[in-house]
Amino acid sequence: MKPGDVAMRGSGTAPAGRFPARPIQVVGEAHFRVTGFELATDLLRGARLRPGITGLADRETAEWARYPVFRLFEDMILFVGPPRHSVIRSRLHSWFTPAAAGELQALIDRVCDRILATVRTTADVIDFAATVAHVLPLEVISELIGIPAPDRPKIAKRADMVVQAMWHTVTEVNRANGAAVLLDRYFRQLIAARRAAPAADLTSELVADGSLSDDEIIASLVFLVIAATFTTGDFLTSAMVMAVRNQEFRRRVLDGNTVAASVEEALRLHPPIAHIIRNAEERIELGSVVVPAGALIDVDVAAANRDPAQFPRPDEFRPDRVPNRSLSFSLGAHYCCGWALGRAEAETLLPKFLRAFPDIRLAGEPLPKRHPFQQGFQRVSLVLREADAR
Ligand code: HEM
Repeated sequence: MKPGDVAMRGSGTAPAGRFPARPIQVVGEAHFRVTGFELATDLLRGARLRPGITGLADRETAEWARYPVFRLFEDMILFVGPPRHSVIRSRLHSWFTPAAAGELQALIDRVCDRILATVRTTADVIDFAATVAHVLPLEVISELIGIPAPDRPKIAKRADMVVQAMWHTVTEVNRANGAAVLLDRYFRQLIAARRAAPAADLTSELVADGSLSDDEIIASLVFLVIAATFTTGDFLTSAMVMAVRNQEFRRRVLDGNTVAASVEEALRLHPPIAHIIRNAEERIELGSVVVPAGALIDVDVAAANRDPAQFPRPDEFRPDRVPNRSLSFSLGAHYCCGWALGRAEAETLLPKFLRAFPDIRLAGEPLPKRHPFQQGFQRVSLVLREADAR
């Protein structure tokens, strides 16, 4: 597939009561969709698939190198194969372990309180997606990387343009190329600044460590902005819509003993990465289905998370499921590095927000996000309080 082609479009979850009988479906000659939880688990844990950068553009052609956005993708942790992958992963991972997330709690609390203070004084109706959900993860990851506050919105906007390259339309790929060039320039300057005068941030640590090239550091920093912001932000929009519509979810989130399990269950029901895209490293036989080497495999996380064989009454919110091992953070070599941080942000923001605004209601139908494999809401208009209650 080359830039300009139309990318695979997300199918979201299987409708209730109509879960596919087979764990894998043939979508096209070299395109398969995995919906069964057990098969998805096996494939993600094993070594027969690799992250699907070739689904974006043909890496073997000279054309590839002409696209700055694809050159940037190539050095990103998700698309780097062994042995380089473990070097990059080991350098990033220590910043996001559960212990580190615990240490980051004070930062998360501070950012949440700042957002709430701003929201309290500004308006009675807000777009939760733009003013809250995407602000928290962006502020937190930017603090860790060392991106100065005034630059953050512009960096997030460009990072979003890079993600939009997934749409494969000429307009989107061109825009993504422009954004990739600017991000490269920005982070190269940040690296130079930290080399000259180190600070207490991840950029300085990566520079001082010396095991990653500057290209790898740049790709890692851009990837972290993308990976941390859109996932957590999109999930927070889904969780807030759920909190408005489901009183039981809201009640459990407000109870300190059940908030973690409730967030976990919400992540199963509404994974922000709804599809994990892979290519087959080799020919794979799965019962009667033969997947040729190189074929595109869409691991439909949103569907596998509702596989009734793994999650009885899968469409119901049941935070007491044991075990409750969804695929929302993936599995295997590319298991999410930020799982503890993403959870901590959700477990902090949701109760704080619901406590601050106990009477919230939707001002209109939330606008779903339009993306081939991410899901959440682009806009969630919330009435925080009635105008005369100020
Ligand atoms: C609710 C929040 C989050 C969800 C649901 C989530 C989900 C995921 C998923 C599904 C993957 C695997 C993608 C694939 O294999 O194609 C992934 C990878 C990754 N995530 Fe997250 N993520 C979240 C938050 C974060 C945060 C806050 C960070 C920042 C530290 C982060 C950093 C990463 C990294 C670095 C990888 C790549 C790991 C690798 O390739 O080895 N994520 N995430």
